[in-house]
Amino acid sequence: MAHISSLIETDIDAYLEAHHHKSLLRFITCGSVDDGKSTLIGRLLYDSKMVFEDQLAALEADSKKVGTQGGEIDFALLVDGLAAEREQGITIDVAYRFFSTETRKFIVADTPGHEQYTRNMVTGASTADAAVILIDARRGVLTQTRRHSYLVSLLGIRNIVLAINKMDLVDWSKETFDAIVEEYQTFADQIGLSDFTAIPMSALKGENITASSDAAPWYDGPPLMAWLEQVPVGDSIAAQSFRMSVQWVNRPNLDFRGFSGQIAAGTVKPGDRIRVLPSGRESRVARIVTLHGDLDQAVAGQSVTLTMTDEIDISRGDVIAAADDPVAVADQFEATLVWMDDEAMLPGRPYLIKIGTQTVQATITEPKYRVNVNTLEHTAAKKLDLNEIGVCNLSVGKPIPFAPYAENRDLGGFILIDRLSNRTVGAGMLHFALRRAENIHWQATDVDKAARASLKGQTGKVVWFTGLSGAGKSTIANLVEKRLHALGRHTYLLDGDNVRHGLNRDLGFTEEDRVENIRRVAEVAKLMVDAGLIVLTAFISPFRAERRMARELMAEGEFVEVFVSTPIEEAERRDVKGLYAKARAGQLKNFTGVDSPYEAPELAEIVVDTTSLSAVEAAERVVAVLLGE
Ligand code: ADX
Repeated sequence: MAHISSLIETDIDAYLEAHHHKSLLRFITCGSVDDGKSTLIGRLLYDSKMVFEDQLAALEADSKKVGTQGGEIDFALLVDGLAAEREQGITIDVAYRFFSTETRKFIVADTPGHEQYTRNMVTGASTADAAVILIDARRGVLTQTRRHSYLVSLLGIRNIVLAINKMDLVDWSKETFDAIVEEYQTFADQIGLSDFTAIPMSALKGENITASSDAAPWYDGPPLMAWLEQVPVGDSIAAQSFRMSVQWVNRPNLDFRGFSGQIAAGTVKPGDRIRVLPSGRESRVARIVTLHGDLDQAVAGQSVTLTMTDEIDISRGDVIAAADDPVAVADQFEATLVWMDDEAMLPGRPYLIKIGTQTVQATITEPKYRVNVNTLEHTAAKKLDLNEIGVCNLSVGKPIPFAPYAENRDLGGFILIDRLSNRTVGAGMLHFALRRAENIHWQATDVDKAARASLKGQTGKVVWFTGLSGAGKSTIANLVEKRLHALGRHTYLLDGDNVRHGLNRDLGFTEEDRVENIRRVAEVAKLMVDAGLIVLTAFISPFRAERRMARELMAEGEFVEVFVSTPIEEAERRDVKGLYAKARAGQLKNFTGVDSPYEAPELAEIVVDTTSLSAVEAAERVVAVLLGE
C-alpha cells in the first residue's frame, strides 16, 4: 500500500504507535451521486493514499472501460463498489470507509441521498461528529439539500461543511458561490445550523480537497481535508457532568463488584460522589478499573469498570451520574421519531425501546405532527409510515434515567424494536419529560383485587375471544356468560359492536383506530378483573401485537385467549349482518378479511372450530376449560 508516511518503511513501530494515538473523526457525506459525492469520497481516499496498488490498477482499467471521465480516473468507481449500484447509478446502502492522514483517522459514512433512504441516512449520521453537505454549484440549494440539512440538525451534528462542488463548471465564479452561501444561510438559520463552513471545490479535479486551490484566489478558508483534520471531537462532552449507563455488573467473586460501561459524558475520578438513577442512591467512586490497570481519571468515550465505596445496589440499565448534577428520571416523553419500517407506526401498539443500556416496553401515546422533510411543514398525523419523521408523546413501561438528546446522544437517543419480529422499526430523540407524568402517582387502596374477588368467591379473569367478523364470537361469548351466570359467577361481557356505541364511538376501522379500540378495551378489562369479575371480550382484535399487549396487562393465568376459528368463506357465506356483501361491493372499506388483515393466534389457550362445533358445543368447551374440567 502506498501510504503517505515514510515512517512505515523506516520505523514501523513508531508509525503504529503514532497511528494508535491519532484522534478519530466520524463524518457523514450528504448529497447524491449527481452532486459528486462518490467522486469526493474516492478523491479523499486516493489523496490520502488509502488505496491499495491492486485497487488502483483495477480502477484505472475500469475508468477506461466505463469511460465516464474520458480515460481519466473515475473516482466514483472506487466508491460505488456494488455492481447493481453502478448500473442504477445510485448509492443504496450505508457504506463506511476508512482513511487516515498524518494527524487523524477518519470514518466516513456514505449514505444514499434519495428520500426513500431517509432511514439509511439517519443510521449513518447517528454516530457522526461532522457532516459534509454537498452541493452542485450549477444547481445550488435543492430540496434534497434542505432535507439532508434538516436531518443533520435533527441528529445534533454541529460541525458542518457546505461543500460547493463542481466549481470548475461555473468558472470558479465568486458570485455563484456567494449566492449559494447566502441562500443556504437563510435556510440554515431556520433549523438552527447557523454555523457552517462553505468551501468552493472540484472533487473531480482535486481542487480544495487536500490542498488549497489557485483556481479560487478569492477563497481564503481551508481546503476540505484541513477542515476535517481540525474539527473538534468529543471535547464538549468531556466538559459536561459525569454520566455512564451500566452495561453489566461485573462480579467475578464475592470480593469484587464493579459496574462496567462506556462513559457517556464528563470525567470521573476515584473519590467522586455519584448518584445512581433511577434509585437515587449515592456513593463514592473507589476505583476505575481497566484491562490495563487502574486509572486516576477517565473521560467520555472510555469503557471502564467502576467500583464504589459502599455496597449499593446497581443494575444493568441504571445510570451512574455526578451526585451534584444527576440525570432526570421519567416515564413519559416528547420525542422526535424517524419511522424505519414498512409497517406503519401505530399509536397504542406496544414496542420495545432501547435507550442507553436498557430495553423496556414503550408505546406512542400521541402522535403530534409529521414533518414534511422537504418543506419542514408540520401536518397532523395519526401514524407514521416508512421514512416519515414526526413528533410524538411516548410512554415507557417503567421510569428510566435519560437526558435530552440535544444534551447527550447516548442518553437521549433511542431505537424502537418490534416485539414479535425483533426488527428495528424506528429511531428517535428524546426532547423532554412530560410534566403531566411528574404529577401523577399511584394511590394505594386498602381493598385490593384479591379481596374483591374473594367476596365474589371467584378469581377474576379475561376470556378474550378473537376471530373474523361473523365467526361467532358474540354468540359463543353470550352463551358462555349465560352459563357462568347460571352457575353464580360474576361476569361482564364487553362486545365489539356495543362498546363502539359508547366508549369507542369515536373510532373507525383503520389500523390505528383498531389498535386504539383494543388498547381501551384491554384497559377496561383490566379494571374489571381488578374488580374481581370474569370478563368476556368479543372483538375481532385482528392484530397479534395488541392481543399480546392485552395479555401482558393481566397477571399470569388471568388471560385466556379463545380463537373462534371460522374460514373466511364460511363467515362470508353466513354473512349475518350483510357486511361481507357490502365490502365485496366496495361500499365498506377496511373490512377484515377483505381489504384489512386478520392475524390468527398462534398460541391461543382454546381454539373452537365452528365448522365442526355448534355454538352451544363451542360454549360448553370454553366453560369446561374455565371451570378446569
Ligand atoms: S376490531 O377490529 O377493532 O377488533 P370490533 O370487534 O371492535 O373490530 O368491531 C367489529 C364489528 O364491527 C364487526 O363485527 C362488524 O359488525 C362491524 N364492522 C363495521 N365495519 C367493519 C369493518 N370495516 N371491518 C370489520 N368489522 C366492521
